Amino acid sequence: MTAASPSFLFATCNPGWESALKAEMRARHGEAVTPAFQRPGLVTWKVREGVVASPGGPLPVLAHVSGSSLGMAKTPEEVPEIVGRCGTKPDRVHVFPRVLPENGFTAEEWLAIDARSAEIASVLRESGVKVEASPPLHGDLVLDVILGDEGEALFAGWHRHDRFRFPFPGGMPRAILPDDAPSRAWLKMEQGLHYAGLGDPGSLAAKTALELGCAPGGGSFSLLTHGAKVLGIDTGEMDGRVLAFEDGERASFSHFAISAGELRIEDLPRRVDLLASDMNLAPPVALRYIERLQRRVRARTLLLTLKINDAKMQAQIPAFLERVRKLTPGEVIATQLPSNRKEITILSLPERR
Ligand SMILES: C[S@@+](CC[C@H](N)C(=O)[O-])C[C@H]1O[C@@H](n2cnc3c(N)ncnc32)[C@H](O)[C@@H]1O
Repeated sequence: MTAASPSFLFATCNPGWESALKAEMRARHGEAVTPAFQRPGLVTWKVREGVVASPGGPLPVLAHVSGSSLGMAKTPEEVPEIVGRCGTKPDRVHVFPRVLPENGFTAEEWLAIDARSAEIASVLRESGVKVEASPPLHGDLVLDVILGDEGEALFAGWHRHDRFRFPFPGGMPRAILPDDAPSRAWLKMEQGLHYAGLGDPGSLAAKTALELGCAPGGGSFSLLTHGAKVLGIDTGEMDGRVLAFEDGERASFSHFAISAGELRIEDLPRRVDLLASDMNLAPPVALRYIERLQRRVRARTLLLTLKINDAKMQAQIPAFLERVRKLTPGEVIATQLPSNRKEITILSLPERR
């Protein structure tokens, strides 16, 4: 078994989306891979003999991480044995829980994950495998160690880092949902910004963001705290903290209490840096509004949440992506963030290059 031609593949996903992920893999690989093992948030596939099913390139939309499966380890001490069997040394180790909660981890949960990660990294170092703690660079081999329930064996796999992969363990950005966030959409926006390489505090200073479907305001609040001047479109009422936001710099919120279809193109500024959408509309309708507005504002960064309520909509994801690709010169990718419920996020990523 080598990293280049694995005999088993694995992918992690939001719990409850395993069947949909399997359908996506079937559409991608046909009969070349057959589902093998499955737990909430984790699926493996056996690769048919003689077939090279490369785990590189864009990930399945519904996958957080995917790569070659190595097997199970009953204890951390068994992890180096598994790595040793493969004859290749990883550059990084990513340790993360199998189930990523939709509301994110609490500070205490992050501490517990960090402790498990430090324990496994130390066992690896003692066995002569030097893993670094910094984010992986393109081409680095990343050992994925997935933590299950109490008493469950550790699952080990690996992937090679490339520009399609989120550099944090499990594809889980380190954002903690505040108890008093205007809405849980705060976490979706934070995870999306991290994914787009815009997770730093001042990442949107002096930038203008337009958010379609902004009420009650978790997403806009996140954009404001990153320094953006935000124009929000929604007939719904906004949280008072969003309306009153001031950072002593340029960040501020302007509310257009109308629907996206009623927004007059001439009322928009010539320059918008980030176009976000979180409207609870069928994707073909949401995309019509997005297309009309993006043709005017030409935002370099797009961060679009699309509702995927059933298999019919899931099957249309490639067509939705094609529509978005026509709107921007930047690279367009789609993913299901850990905080996404029945939805996916489409991003254009000029900033990540
Ligand atoms: C999931 S909520 C948005 C949450 C919001 N992003 C936040 O951060 O709190 C969906 C929103 O889409 C809005 N919406 C639905 N159709 C819309 C349209 N045609 N134009 C603008 N907003 C729309 C709804 O009013 C609703 O507030």
